[in-house]
Amino acid sequence: MAARPLVDSWGRVHDNLRISVTDRCNIRCFYCMPETDVHFVRRSEILDFEEIERFVRIAVTLGIRKLRVTGGEPLVRRDLAVLIRRLSTIPGIEDLALTTNGVLLPQLAAPLYEAGLRRINVHLDTIDRARFLEITRRDEIHKVLAGLEACKQLGYSKIKLNAVAVKHLVEPDIVPLARYARENGFEVRYIEFMPLDAQNLWDRSKVLLADEIIAILGREIAPLVPVPDPDPRAPASEYQFSDGIGRVGFIASVSRPFCLNCNRLRLTADGKLRYCLFAVEEDDVKTLLRSDASDEAIVALVRRNVAGKWEGHEINSTRFVAPPAAHVLDRRLGPA
Ligand code: 5AD
Ligand code: SF4
Repeated sequence: MAARPLVDSWGRVHDNLRISVTDRCNIRCFYCMPETDVHFVRRSEILDFEEIERFVRIAVTLGIRKLRVTGGEPLVRRDLAVLIRRLSTIPGIEDLALTTNGVLLPQLAAPLYEAGLRRINVHLDTIDRARFLEITRRDEIHKVLAGLEACKQLGYSKIKLNAVAVKHLVEPDIVPLARYARENGFEVRYIEFMPLDAQNLWDRSKVLLADEIIAILGREIAPLVPVPDPDPRAPASEYQFSDGIGRVGFIASVSRPFCLNCNRLRLTADGKLRYCLFAVEEDDVKTLLRSDASDEAIVALVRRNVAGKWEGHEINSTRFVAPPAAHVLDRRLGPA
């Protein structure tokens, strides 16, 4: 008999698990990491593939059907294709996707495809080399573009580009990025700049809103119209160009929070379960996985985590507290 699904106290059914496989990254996007003094979790603290697979198999019995592998930068995790093969063959998993910065895709796009991966989101804010260097502090754009070309040739489906919408910064990149995406059959998705950055640069005035991007694209390329019959549970609002060529999505986490439809849980690289990207509390799965705990004990922990899920983040309220950024040394040490 199937177990009860993972329903929280607001009635939200959870079928989506995001798995971070490393907190490390090979670039340094300013809205995520500081340039120096980055503190990473010790390798021995990171879940191994057996531990991740066991957790996913248990999660599937609770109704998890969709997986997304993330980081840090997931492609820096050694032998990631081996994990992808193991996850893609778990019965009950209907959708497996990966979010990457793309730098290692030239060498990994093919092995990942062979391992069963078909869906990929590539983080890319600009197609200009100097701007990429400014944003990520690394001169690696040629690798990302070559990696995207490799994915296209291999036949990955619905390749998406994630761009972070930072006001007074990305405006000059919007039109070239959208043109590049249209020409290549990729969908660009703008994610509103969220208070996740290590250096506390975020404030509301730095969030570039969907309507502003829609106006720029409408003026410079072609009007954007909402797609008919959007999926009401999807976090992105989807638009298409009125000439029929290409789509643009907006993940308006700040101005239009989608918390009421949230179906996600997150497993951190060091084996903690979080019910929200902004959660300030977490449950320790790793200790159970490493102490011969039964599957039932792990099920109980997942249910407890989901049962305690809050209604939503409070970015728009004065009560908002930014979550701890694990890789930032000064946050770890606490306020001065
Ligand atoms: N605000 C919004 N999006 C962010 N990302 C990273 N940091 C931030 C931030 N501060 C995005 C990247 C990555 C995705 C997982 O999260 O685009 O692709
Ligand atoms: Fe790396 Fe992604 Fe953070 Fe950029 S946003 S520094 S690619 S983990």
